[in-house]
Amino acid sequence: MGVLIRGGTVVNADRSERADVYCSDGVIKAVGTGLDVPAGTEVVDAGGALVMPGGIDPHTHMEMPFMGTRAIEDFESGTASMLAGGTTMLIDFVIPSPQQSLTAALDDWSDWAKKAVADYSFHVAITWWSERVEQQMAECVDRGVNSFKHFMAYKGALMVDDEILFKSFTRCRELGALPMVHAENGDAVYLLQQQLLNAGITGPEGHALSRPPHVEAEAANRAIMIAQTVGVPLYVVHTSCREAHEAIARARAAGLRVYGEPLAQHLVLDESVYYSPDWEFAASRVMSPPFRTKDHQKSLWDGLVAGSLQVVATDHCAFLISQKKMGLDNFTKIPNGTGGIEERLKVVWHFGVNSGRLTPEEFVAVTSTNCARIYNIYPQKGRVGVGSDADLVVWDPKATHTISQKTHHSRMDVNVFEGITVTGAPKVTVSQGKVVWKDGQLDVTRGHGRNVKRPPFAPVFEAQAKVNDRTRPHPVKRTVHLQQTP
Ligand code: URP
Ligand code: ZN
Ligand code: ZN
Repeated sequence: MGVLIRGGTVVNADRSERADVYCSDGVIKAVGTGLDVPAGTEVVDAGGALVMPGGIDPHTHMEMPFMGTRAIEDFESGTASMLAGGTTMLIDFVIPSPQQSLTAALDDWSDWAKKAVADYSFHVAITWWSERVEQQMAECVDRGVNSFKHFMAYKGALMVDDEILFKSFTRCRELGALPMVHAENGDAVYLLQQQLLNAGITGPEGHALSRPPHVEAEAANRAIMIAQTVGVPLYVVHTSCREAHEAIARARAAGLRVYGEPLAQHLVLDESVYYSPDWEFAASRVMSPPFRTKDHQKSLWDGLVAGSLQVVATDHCAFLISQKKMGLDNFTKIPNGTGGIEERLKVVWHFGVNSGRLTPEEFVAVTSTNCARIYNIYPQKGRVGVGSDADLVVWDPKATHTISQKTHHSRMDVNVFEGITVTGAPKVTVSQGKVVWKDGQLDVTRGHGRNVKRPPFAPVFEAQAKVNDRTRPHPVKRTVHLQQTP
């Protein structure tokens, strides 16, 4: 049975128009007024509402084994939560443990994701290097992965050094894949952590103190310079501070294809949380990079407005308080991660659009369309248009909602946005052409999610490579004039 979304304003990243949307067989079949639809079509009333492409969250960690424990959100609860918040697709990180085969790790994540209730896709992390890894990167690309993440932090665990960055970025360029970085100088973080522990600082405030903005900025600059040297685009995940944003903006002004991704959490929450006398409150906010002071938030919003930052994600990585307690006596052992997959759209709408910073079209760009473009799945995703997947959110810009752990759909026992009242919320979410969220109720089916394959992107890389080729050394042809002795 098809679905007709009637009476709303369709908002795409480039324009808005009054139009109805008819979906069947999982795709959008018509956009316009006075549509002729088959009898029995389910009608969704979108009067007074906006009809937008469903959100895409390009940064999540479902069921991820990390820091001696495992993230408690699974692909079923995580994708259900995202649908309740108007997001219809996520891209999760496959993280091979060092020495583990990339494709074996991709198999594991693919198995876990079989219970997803909505569409998903994968990035793969490069956590070590060998000829086999280099070879398996091609196999990952064949399996629909066009992006590889590199951790510049988590020394002794996931961190890779500059040599691996250079080799892997080079391989990404050959394959037409996009390298991504978690930009923090892991050596500096490690040394700062030791200094703080030696000085007796063991609480969550040590987490913020050990990861100051310049530690992030140094790594972002370094990764950008390595990408420039190799001649490959770069995506900087969870950009949290002004200095890292400036590095990205500078690179873009110099003609480099560098993308920056702030998180909803960094846009709204600040580092004061780490100084709360309530250990559980502070520890449940521990993630990397940490929340920053408010002047950094302003820079991130400015970047979204100016276009120097393109995508808002969540890095949804859910741990219970009982797991956070692994670091009760030592902040370096608190599992790093926070949630937000359900709240992302509400928070960005409320603090972005209602404040006048972003237009509704820009909201669509930073929550959906830019992500689809950067990861090469546009216009299958990220657009309300004929032929695109019927992944939609009917947005009520007047609905108010107070965010709370008591009402969220995540398995987390904390919500980092607890108590914040937002205006603007999803009235209906449509996934694969089916109404899955309506009137505060989820109607989802375990296993209905599909793995969205993302092809490599040759044309962009060819252009980038040409820019870089001008700076490559060529052997200089010289004529040697031998002096004749008289
Ligand atoms: O603290 C975070 N961000 N945890 C998830 C892993 C990562 O660094 O992305
Ligand atoms: Zn990270
Ligand atoms: Zn992450």
